[in-house]
Amino acid sequence: MTLDQARKRHAELVREIRMHDHAYYVEARPKISDREYDRLFQELLDLERQFPELVTPDSPSQRVGGQPLEGFRRIRHRVPMLSLEKVRPADHPTRAEEPDDALRKQRQDQNTLNELRSWDLNLRKQLRLDRLEYVMEPKVDGVSISVHYEKGRFVLGVTRGDGTTGDDITANLRTIRSIPLALQIQDPPAHLEVRGEAYMALKDFEALNRQLESAGEEPFPNARNATAGTLKLLDPRLVAQRPLRAVFYGIGHCEGIEFRTHAEVLQSLRRFGLPTQPEWWLCRDMDHLLEIYRREVVADYREEKDLRARLPYEIDGVVIKVNDMTLWPRIPAKARAPGYAIVHKPIHWIEPAETVLKAITVQVGRTGVLTPVAELEPVFVQGSTISRATLHNEDEIRRKDIRIGDTVVIRKAGMVIPEVVEVVKSKRPAGTRPFDLFEHVGGRCPACGGPIAREPVSTGEGQEVAWRCQNVAGCPAQKVRRLEFFTQRKALDIEGIGGIVAEKLIESGLVDEPLDLFELKTEDLARLNLGTEEAPRVFGEKNARKVREALERARTLPLGRWLFALGIPNVGEVTAHDIASFHEDLESVARSPLLQGVVRLEELAREAEAVNPHSRKNPPRTEAERRRRTEQYEALRQEAERIGRELIEAGFARPAARSGEGGFPACVTKVGPVAARSVLEFFASPAGKRVLQRLKTLKIHPRGARTAVSGGPLAGKTLVLTGTLSSWTREEASELIRQAGGHVAGSVSKNTDYVVAGESPGSKLDKARALGVPVLDEAAFRKLLVEAGVLKDSAQTTGQRYGGGSAQPELF
Ligand code: IVH
Repeated sequence: MTLDQARKRHAELVREIRMHDHAYYVEARPKISDREYDRLFQELLDLERQFPELVTPDSPSQRVGGQPLEGFRRIRHRVPMLSLEKVRPADHPTRAEEPDDALRKQRQDQNTLNELRSWDLNLRKQLRLDRLEYVMEPKVDGVSISVHYEKGRFVLGVTRGDGTTGDDITANLRTIRSIPLALQIQDPPAHLEVRGEAYMALKDFEALNRQLESAGEEPFPNARNATAGTLKLLDPRLVAQRPLRAVFYGIGHCEGIEFRTHAEVLQSLRRFGLPTQPEWWLCRDMDHLLEIYRREVVADYREEKDLRARLPYEIDGVVIKVNDMTLWPRIPAKARAPGYAIVHKPIHWIEPAETVLKAITVQVGRTGVLTPVAELEPVFVQGSTISRATLHNEDEIRRKDIRIGDTVVIRKAGMVIPEVVEVVKSKRPAGTRPFDLFEHVGGRCPACGGPIAREPVSTGEGQEVAWRCQNVAGCPAQKVRRLEFFTQRKALDIEGIGGIVAEKLIESGLVDEPLDLFELKTEDLARLNLGTEEAPRVFGEKNARKVREALERARTLPLGRWLFALGIPNVGEVTAHDIASFHEDLESVARSPLLQGVVRLEELAREAEAVNPHSRKNPPRTEAERRRRTEQYEALRQEAERIGRELIEAGFARPAARSGEGGFPACVTKVGPVAARSVLEFFASPAGKRVLQRLKTLKIHPRGARTAVSGGPLAGKTLVLTGTLSSWTREEASELIRQAGGHVAGSVSKNTDYVVAGESPGSKLDKARALGVPVLDEAAFRKLLVEAGVLKDSAQTTGQRYGGGSAQPELF
């Protein structure tokens, strides 16, 4: 594709994606399927990876996250972010008294509702008013955020923090597609701070956990926790991969805009293109509010219909606010909470449920990890019937002493993935025994009967010990999970090969390993029986053709997607793309000197620690030993330093910013030693070698985002262009840098190696100076290009432009 074609396609993609973002996140009326959207977005990313000069600050791709941060800047809130008082919880009667469930709940709730009436009465007395209007809205169980728009442009995003000061999480919030980067206002106010909640929609949260689990990582206990954990990540690229959303319900510091009522705020935010809650009620007075509450919020205490079941996110109560904002300053506040608003939590919303643990089954994941699952006596909890719950792992079962036959307390962690909170010991039947996973599965993998062993596995939080099926190549459960992983969206995006289809493909023997898909005959796939022998249900012609098309598309996907799809342990999406951007193809990854360097550095650090002459744990005992160890240590240090320098030169590492960062010697590599080792081991293994061989036979050659030039002054360097150069357009200069093995970035950070400044440079130059980034003028830049071997020599090229098309005189 030429640059011109790329630019045109890029503009189209940007326009379409923006329109779909609004339709999906704000209007909640998507116009295309998630899959189609993802395809557009992926196309944009792939395009920008190839042509970095197309990246603009408000390209939707900028939501994919920028450089990792060292830490968050602290920001003081101009208007403090307060919390809310709860309606005083009244004593509620014990549960068993009322046989009718709905009536019992109503009676329990009545006490707190009476408190709400007296709150209203008090307020009216203080304000000397007969009647007060209220807005009632769901209390979102997410993480509070504050987002600042200056002249309609998103400029700052902050956490609540302690209410007075929060963390600057702008880079992370920019990745949330439901937060517009520009407001839809003709004449935007000088400043508008909006406040709301970041959250994960329940279905997205479930999918995230499934994905973490299938990657052998620890799932999050609930959606709120997942949201909070995600917003704290220092790498916005990771944040961008998590399905965060936001809703807004209020304002903070404003200039050039005023609101009279809270209802007006909610309506205006919506009009500005900000996501607000789909349901909220303006109530004439407290009687009216309680009427709506009974009908709409708790649905006469019949849980199937209550508000929680209608919303895509979790809520843990309703917030009631005085509508007239001009009254707010007249209502005395509590220590940390305003007087004009209050939270009410229906009692039955906080109740956990009890049920009996009938059995424990064991599931086998992609990497063979065995996960115990609780099979429960079905019980209705918070809107749906639960019959299974995760037990995480054997240690968790031991810690909680969960036994088959126990009565257990179930909570929907995140209201979707249920978990066993605790055992009701008093109800334990006689004859139960502590759970032992090995014994439970008869010492064999429940899917293939193969041997199992207890091994360290890496989870989201680090290492953990788990039982694992050792029959990596032959276990059908692992094969199914690998196939699902390979075809998932973020990998090769082959729609239609998930769940039952994957199972049947493996079961029928049509597919044994993911690459078999490419040799599968469309007819065979069409005939695949997804049902039973008695009641057959075939996959079908049309679906098979779709899979075929997706497979064709997959053949040319970039290296990063393929590297991820292979499901190499410890290689997540970001790592895969990082590695891909430094390599040409899978062969060069397989024998990568960069990855070998990373692994060697870690070995050297370990060896050095063992001989460290200053070790406190193991000091030298004799002078001779001290001398010998000093020498050994020095030799190791020198080797490490040399490797570190090479990695830094190649752009695959940076010098550590702080002492202690990056260990021995100080350098921080792009990819850590665990992932690097894992990749090299994979390609050295018979399975990895087979993959390389088969790809060759299949004529699939995934290419890196760029062809790396090894060596030369610009190889692996990151450059930023600012101002106008006399010899080349920005695109031409970018192309030259790429040819020299460098990257072009859109903005200056501490990871920038050079800023190239032409005529009338912009603020990037100031930033470069502030950060101490070396600045090149045109002559110096030209010299480096010549040294890098992409320009013949400076005399010949002065004043010439290469045409970008066929005539490129100065380019080799
Ligand atoms: S209004 C002065 N409305 O609940 C505080 N807060 O416990 C005004 N929250 O930190 C907040 N949903 O993050 C308001 N519809 C809603 C809310 C809501 C959730 C959170 C908010 C606040 C916390 C207070």
